[in-house]
Amino acid sequence: MRRPWEEQQLSDLLTVRDLVVQVPGRAAKIIDGISFSLAAGQTLGLVGESGCGKSMTCYAIAKALPRAVAQTGGTITLANDGRGSGKRKDPTIAMIFQDPTSSLNPVHTIGYYLESSLSRHQGLRGNDARLEAMRLLERVGIDQAKSRLRSYPHQFSGGMNQRVMIAHALAAKPALLIADEPTTALDVTTQAQILHLLEELRAETGMALLIVSHDLGVIARLADRAAVMYCGKIVETAPVVDLLERAAHPYARALIDCMPTIDPDDLEPPVPIPGSVPLLENLPAGCYYHPRCPRASARCTASFPGPASVGPLHEAWCYHPVSA
Ligand SMILES: Nc1ncnc2c1ncn2[C@@H]1O[C@H](COP(=O)(O)OP(=O)(O)OP(=O)(O)O)[C@@H](O)[C@H]1O
Ligand SMILES: [Mg+2]
Repeated sequence: MRRPWEEQQLSDLLTVRDLVVQVPGRAAKIIDGISFSLAAGQTLGLVGESGCGKSMTCYAIAKALPRAVAQTGGTITLANDGRGSGKRKDPTIAMIFQDPTSSLNPVHTIGYYLESSLSRHQGLRGNDARLEAMRLLERVGIDQAKSRLRSYPHQFSGGMNQRVMIAHALAAKPALLIADEPTTALDVTTQAQILHLLEELRAETGMALLIVSHDLGVIARLADRAAVMYCGKIVETAPVVDLLERAAHPYARALIDCMPTIDPDDLEPPVPIPGSVPLLENLPAGCYYHPRCPRASARCTASFPGPASVGPLHEAWCYHPVSA
């Protein structure tokens, strides 16, 4: 069944339905039946504590799951956006990772890295590839591009390497860019620059963006919608402003209460969430969050809740959603 917020987007680029990801042969589900969709030009933010399955969702969409892990259920559909080249018109997906420096191959120059992607995706060779690589580096804010092409990743700062990864992703002219914690390894100034760059590129190219962060500030800045994940399930999804102002799932509320603030009028210290994320092999019966939840009732221990509509395009998988 399509959810109300899924219904409105007839021009979806990416549609994920009931996705299940597991280590084959094991009962535990790393991703347990999640569904969402994303239209061209839109940004969806995935949030949640460490280990809740944000990266695995990205890898499944990018067809880059680790060797031991497989998609065992559900569908991931990419609509033809007509941008592909040759006979294949499938939209291209590019992905950037959390730790830029260790994601780049240390034995290749930045030039080699960019030019090989330009050759693969755009058929550019020799001087044409070099000129386009320089243009891409300049586009992501790296000056002296000509000499930088001869540099190796270890000669760049983390922020510069993240820009290189973004340039590499752009070489594929992606219809969908997946950014998995793209700023976590960076200082706040560089983080702000990278977020600004992503905003500009999205506006310029019309690409869709799937951004993962455990930092709700990053999601608030970039995303149109957000989905909160817990133990492989989506437990709340909403337009990002609604999520921040009217989170309904106690877990989403707790995540927001954990956010540090620099507002001098708000001196409340961040409130940690009690307990810890259960192991996938040892999930509690009922709602997975109930052992940590102050609102849990007997019902929550019996069965996992279905989605409850708590506002326009806003759903929470909770028997006792917090009202505004
Ligand atoms: N290679 C692997 N083989 C089997 N299970 C894995 C593998 N990598 C991760 N997992 C499991 O998959 C689950 C989801 O991991 P994932 O990396 O998607 O979490 P995450 O939400 O991205 O966390 P973080 O915020 O720390 O990046 C975790 O329980 C983890 O133990
Ligand atoms: Mg991750």
